[in-house]
This record gives sequence, C-alpha cells and structure tokens, in this order.
Amino acid sequence: MAIRNVREIGDDILKKTCKPVKEMNARTQELIEDMFETMYATNGCGLAAPQVGILKRIVVIDVDDGNQYVLINPQILETKDSQSGYEGCLSVPGKRGIVTRPNYVKVKALDENLQEYILEGTELLARAICHECDHLDGKLYVDLVEGELEDVTEDLEAE
Ligand code: NI
Repeated sequence: MAIRNVREIGDDILKKTCKPVKEMNARTQELIEDMFETMYATNGCGLAAPQVGILKRIVVIDVDDGNQYVLINPQILETKDSQSGYEGCLSVPGKRGIVTRPNYVKVKALDENLQEYILEGTELLARAICHECDHLDGKLYVDLVEGELEDVTEDLEAE
C-alpha cells in the first residue's frame, strides 16, 4: 500500500471522463487500497481514481458511518430532497464552498469483487456519493458553489 499523489485543480486529468472498469486484477486492487490509504492520510471522506491520476470509474468513501464503500462504475438511480452545506475537495486544498446536493441518493455500483450492489445514502453520504461520482465525469464542486469559494483555516473534512 502506498499514499498516492493527489492531483489538484488546474490539472487537466481532473476534467476528463473516466473509463468503466471491466475486470478486477492485482493492479486495480492495489489502486483501491492506495485510494483508501491516501484518503485517510489526507483526512478526506471520499476519493475518486482520477484524483490520483487514474482515469477509471472507481470511488472510495468513508464518512465515518462504520463502512468503507467501494463504488466501481457507479450509476445514480434516484435522488430526492436537497441539502445545502459546505463542501471541500482534496483536489482543491484549503478551500470550501456552499453546494446544494440531493439529501438522498440511491446508487448502483460494483464492489471490489465486481458484484453489483445498491447503496442508499442520506446527508453526508449522499453528498459524498454525488461529489465523487462527479469526479468520474470530470466535474469539480467548485463549478456548483453558490457564492464565493472560501479559504479554510481550520482542518475540515474534505472529499
Ligand atoms: Ni473531490
């Protein structure tokens, strides 16, 4: 396992559309492990593969609900209600901004064994799912911020 370098805003790779994962192999397993390690090392609650320079549709999430989610080729099936709150991103260090997201998300994805499952999330988990899935399509939260992007002075959780 290794901590990988997190790409930052301005890096073109963050604007690209990622490719679906078709098979699981040692290299992709290692990528997923490294993504978790990188996310924990940087106090994030989610990380998408393009943030470590890999254009594959893989997301890891841990919003401190006791679960480690791996979402491969995720597909959002349903969203409901809305929430507005601060959002940050490991690829946009030192910043945060208000973003409105659905308060409920139902997503279909493959796990690390390429088994399909359904994940339903509310509140922070719903926000993290939306934020990370956006990364797979080359979208950053900064384009959704209402008002100004703010400087973060204290250590806040970022996605
Ligand atoms: Ni992000």
